[in-house]
Amino acid sequence: MTVIQQVSGDRMKIIMFFSLLLLVCSVSADQTETAVQQSDTQDIHAVLRELTASLALQNEQITVLQRENQVKQVAFSASLGKQSPTDTGPFTTETTLIFEHVITNIGNAYNQSTGIFTAPVRGVYHFEFHIFGTAGIRAGGSLFRNGDLICTAYEHPKSGSVSASNGVSLLLEVGDQVSVRLPIGSSIHENQNHHTTFSGHLIFTM
Ligand SMILES: *[C@@H]1O[C@H](CO)[C@@H](O)[C@H](O)[C@H]1NC(C)=O
Repeated sequence: MTVIQQVSGDRMKIIMFFSLLLLVCSVSADQTETAVQQSDTQDIHAVLRELTASLALQNEQITVLQRENQVKQVAFSASLGKQSPTDTGPFTTETTLIFEHVITNIGNAYNQSTGIFTAPVRGVYHFEFHIFGTAGIRAGGSLFRNGDLICTAYEHPKSGSVSASNGVSLLLEVGDQVSVRLPIGSSIHENQNHHTTFSGHLIFTM
């Protein structure tokens, strides 16, 4: 073996070594790329799954909010609604007044066949009632929450006609009932002018 042959042999080895190295590098680069692509795809799927889940959650929350907002709109006004002059009472027992003529009933929380308002949501509500009476007999009303008397208004006119009224803000739980009762011995006069009314409004939820 000559010196020249020896050198060219080494050269050959070096060239082959680099070729092999390049091949190995490119193969491993390919593998890395495939691995990266695979993990990218997996990541995208995971992100998509997360997005889908959070979209579903958001839709649910929107539905709940819409329902809550609907339930937050509560206001009613009703009058006794007698079309001709009519006296109600006196009775020997306390009697729930049924304000049959609905003027406003947003949220339908007031029931015109029972005279009872039922809180659809926990919150602070304002109520007021106006009672009209004529001479000679006590005209009055009492506002009740469930079985508890909250406030009363009455007049006992010697002549002419009068109106007695009261109002109150109440924190109500869902299902609490509010109504106006005619006290024993009281009488209300009503006609087509809607003198005797009961109103309630949700001020804010809590
Ligand atoms: C009002 O009350 C009556 C008697 O309890 C009931 O039958 C009716 O369904 C109620 N109306 C509404 C709108 O809730």
